[in-house]
Amino acid sequence: MTIVLGIETSCDETGVGLVEDGVLLGDALASSMAEHARFGGVVPEIAARAHLEAMTPTVHAALERAGITLADVGAVAVTAGPGLATALHVGVAAAKAYALALEAPLYGVHHLAGHAAADTLEHGPLPERSVVLIVSGGHTSLLGVRDLVRTPITHLSDTVDDAAGEAFDKVARLIGLPYPGGPSIDQAARDGDPAAIRFPRPLTGPHDPPLGFSFSGLKTAVARYVEGHPDASAPDVAASFQEAVADVLTAKALRACRDEHVDTLVVVGGVAANSRIRALAQQRCDAAGIELRVPPMRLCTDNGAMIAAIGDLLVRDGAKPSPLDFSAVPTVELRSAQL
Ligand code: KG4
Ligand code: ZN
Repeated sequence: MTIVLGIETSCDETGVGLVEDGVLLGDALASSMAEHARFGGVVPEIAARAHLEAMTPTVHAALERAGITLADVGAVAVTAGPGLATALHVGVAAAKAYALALEAPLYGVHHLAGHAAADTLEHGPLPERSVVLIVSGGHTSLLGVRDLVRTPITHLSDTVDDAAGEAFDKVARLIGLPYPGGPSIDQAARDGDPAAIRFPRPLTGPHDPPLGFSFSGLKTAVARYVEGHPDASAPDVAASFQEAVADVLTAKALRACRDEHVDTLVVVGGVAANSRIRALAQQRCDAAGIELRVPPMRLCTDNGAMIAAIGDLLVRDGAKPSPLDFSAVPTVELRSAQL
């Protein structure tokens, strides 16, 4: 069996994980989030420099947690894209250096495939067929997934504008909550009334694409409301906005399961950490007799374990390693796990 070292640097988290045969041996995470907070979003150059500084210590921390040494590593996987170019390059360069030094095969992988693979660390292999809802800061998609590494992944729908996480981040800003907006809104919503304001449920009309997602109109609706109601309670706005997002995401994900005749829904990505989305998905899946799989919260947001997990699936599937001269790809749709 092969121990896979996974490296993730697509945004502001330097993540390192070690996975062997579907088991997470250990992982570590360094974040430059605090350095971006005063800018209200991730600054690519700051993120890249932070990755550079955090890389070696984070690899060592993960090895220590796993109780192994670098010499035990048999393969290296790294996020090749999508993500911030400056940030991706640091991870790819580091992964190449480790692979070369260890004489180990190297796999450049798709970040979103990693998000989906994170769930297998907690709940074991995916069933033969599943619908995967990916909700992150940059992506919102419903996918038809089989084995994740061999059969091509099909897109059932993708957001036509903002990603769900982007909407959380922008709405948080509108109501004066700190970056990153997702966790702030989740927290503030606990003291709010989700029925206080009836925000629109985008693309849910009879003539709309049944699986379509759009979040920019919802963000604008919140902006208009806040403009018209300067004294609105931030917790009520947060809870009502969160309810609209959770309602739309879960209704469409269940619709996709019905359409595809699939009885497993997997919800992954940073926004899958949201407490209301997790609860509503569970409630609706229970009612529909669909099995819901959501990774534990710490594996929902970006981490290295998920990249090691998808690398481990590729290794066990006998995938051909990536050439040592491959480059990071900042924009790339998810079709296959390996880039
Ligand atoms: O997957 P991720 O860590 O990075 C990307 O690949 O984009 O997702 C980050 C996104 C951010 O927009 C963040 O606000 C959102 O996930 N997020 C949440 C929560 N935790 C993180 N959104 C809603 N509720 C949360 N609890
Ligand atoms: Zn992500």
